[in-house]
Amino acid sequence: MNDASPSTARVLPDAQTVTEVTHWTDTLFSFRVTRPQSLRFRSGEFVMIGLLDEAGKPIQRAYSIASPSWDEELEFYSIKVQDGPLTSRLQHIKVGDQIILRPKPVGTLVHDALLPGKRIWFLATGTGIAPFASLMRDPETYEKYDEVIMMHTCRQVAELEYGRQLVESLNDDPLIGEMVAGKLKYYPTTTREEFHHMGRITDNLTSGKVFADLGITPMDREHDRAMVCGSLAFNLDVKAVLEGFGLREGANSEPLEYVVEKAFVGDGV
Ligand SMILES: Cc1cc2nc3c(=O)[nH]c(=O)nc-3n(C[C@H](O)[C@H](O)[C@H](O)COP(=O)(O)OP(=O)(O)OC[C@H]3O[C@@H](n4cnc5c(N)ncnc54)[C@H](O)[C@@H]3O)c2cc1C
Ligand SMILES: NC(=O)c1ccc[n+]([C@@H]2O[C@H](COP(=O)([O-])OP(=O)(O)OC[C@H]3O[C@@H](n4cnc5c(N)ncnc54)[C@H](OP(=O)(O)O)[C@@H]3O)[C@@H](O)[C@H]2O)c1
Repeated sequence: MNDASPSTARVLPDAQTVTEVTHWTDTLFSFRVTRPQSLRFRSGEFVMIGLLDEAGKPIQRAYSIASPSWDEELEFYSIKVQDGPLTSRLQHIKVGDQIILRPKPVGTLVHDALLPGKRIWFLATGTGIAPFASLMRDPETYEKYDEVIMMHTCRQVAELEYGRQLVESLNDDPLIGEMVAGKLKYYPTTTREEFHHMGRITDNLTSGKVFADLGITPMDREHDRAMVCGSLAFNLDVKAVLEGFGLREGANSEPLEYVVEKAFVGDGV
């Protein structure tokens, strides 16, 4: 085994088997694994996943489950950090390999942490779309809200592709296709490459551009709910924008108008 390949020769704790791997760019990939029969989770939650290092020690990291709670398998959407302890190895996984999956889902990006409302905003940068890939495929999202707005911003167009294909596939989905039609509004933007819609999420909210482009009323506390997932800097800036519209941060223990989760810890790759 070379240094870059996952350590699958040893017996892994909480092992699950990889069933599919898709590479989207040189820094992004997604994969699916078998689901432990006993694993129950709420769409939007995260778990710890990992691999063994060369010494047989587990390297584990938090990962949002990108598949919905009804799916028979689990999907993840991942960054590739070239010198990252986990993803320098994880990016080489193949169908049939095993990963560690600790079956203890947790997280704040869940419907229970928000008061009822009319519109829900999913605000994400980069891999922060992962929990919303789960929530956008969950019937509960469309039962609870009249409108679902997915804003996803990346530097480059290619970094949007996982989300674009996912949204496109929803319309033909036999389970939720009809629920999604007319309710889900997708607003992808780039910041460093030409695209039909551009700009940071924060700027497009404060300038009112997104409301004008979608032909909808501005955010307010009575109707709007939001879930946020991006870098720490992004999360802090979005929080200030949402508070400006009168929304307040909630939690599982005290549902209010918006909730936030870090897409990763640190300044970025
Ligand atoms: C609650 C939570 C949920 C998460 N969900 C996901 C997920 O669904 N998909 C995912 O790819 N990562 C996710 N992460 C990040 C993940 O836990 C790891 O940090 C990531 O897999 C890299 O692991 P590593 O060991 O290779 O490098 P690490 O040592 O963990 O990270 C090295 C550096 O890379 C940068 N980095 C790490 N992750 C990212 C990222 N996702 N985007 C941009 N820069 C990053 C940071 O600067 C970090 O300091 C999540 C983190 C948290 C806290
Ligand atoms: N992705 C790449 O192609 C690339 C290439 C080289 C290096 N890097 C390094 O990797 C790190 C992570 O890159 P990333 O692209 O995955 O994540 P990122 O820097 O968090 O950017 C992702 C998206 O979020 C936007 N954004 C960042 N901070 C924001 C804020 N405070 N408020 C609103 N929007 C914000 C960015 O817009 P802006 O473009 O306006 O910042 C970008 O469109 C960076 O620190 C960078 O140094 C990335």
